[in-house]
Amino acid sequence: MIVSKEYPNLFIVDHPLVLHKLTQMRESSCPPSRFRSLLKDISTLMTYAVTENLPVTTKKIKTPLVEMDAPVLACNEPVIVPILRAGLGLVDGPLSVMQDAIVGHVGVYRDEQTHLPHEYLVKMPQQMPLDRHFLIVDPMLATGGSAIHVTDVLVGRGVDRNKIAMMVLVAAPEGVKAYHARYPEVPIYTASLDSHLNDYAYIVPGLGDAGDRIFGTL
Ligand code: PRP
Ligand code: URA
Repeated sequence: MIVSKEYPNLFIVDHPLVLHKLTQMRESSCPPSRFRSLLKDISTLMTYAVTENLPVTTKKIKTPLVEMDAPVLACNEPVIVPILRAGLGLVDGPLSVMQDAIVGHVGVYRDEQTHLPHEYLVKMPQQMPLDRHFLIVDPMLATGGSAIHVTDVLVGRGVDRNKIAMMVLVAAPEGVKAYHARYPEVPIYTASLDSHLNDYAYIVPGLGDAGDRIFGTL
């Protein structure tokens, strides 16, 4: 994993398998079925990096041979928060290795003209589990508007900003700067820091519209 020198609190998960799979996803010929399965693979691999700072304690257990103090998580598994629609593609990976995680959904779409986020759904647990960590997931961090909006939703419901992390597939420098201008304490994990945004606020080289590519709505 690369700790960015240019952007504090940005971590680039440059594992060879992640890079190899992301390249396949970028190719415009990659069909939705393959795109979804690569996204699941990458998000599973990235979960290793994203969860590396979860606190660990020990408990006494009995193996068939002896008693021992064995390491266990000192906290409940996180709340995974996909930003709909495209964030749904990054839920099954983390869930496959954290079966006791909770999933809270926030639906946000970006206005095509203004590029500003519009919220259409918030479905969080009725009692916010504020003891847990929160992992916001979305394939694309472009202007950063959607991610900021969703973080505002969580913080507005009492979540400690020090317990939030972002996992994205591709980030633009503009989005990283905007997000960290508001939430410098939230780490961003990405598989790639791309070059820039184009005039339509799409990430270049990017992979196009992630939601359309996942769900075949191009
Ligand atoms: C995409 C993407 C992010 C957002 C990123 O979603 O999945 O949520 O755009 O852009 P931003 O950083 O400039 O806010 P989109 O609004 O296209 O909705 P969708 O997931 O339903 O396709
Ligand atoms: N949303 C996407 O799906 N792709 C981009 O490049 C930017 C925003």
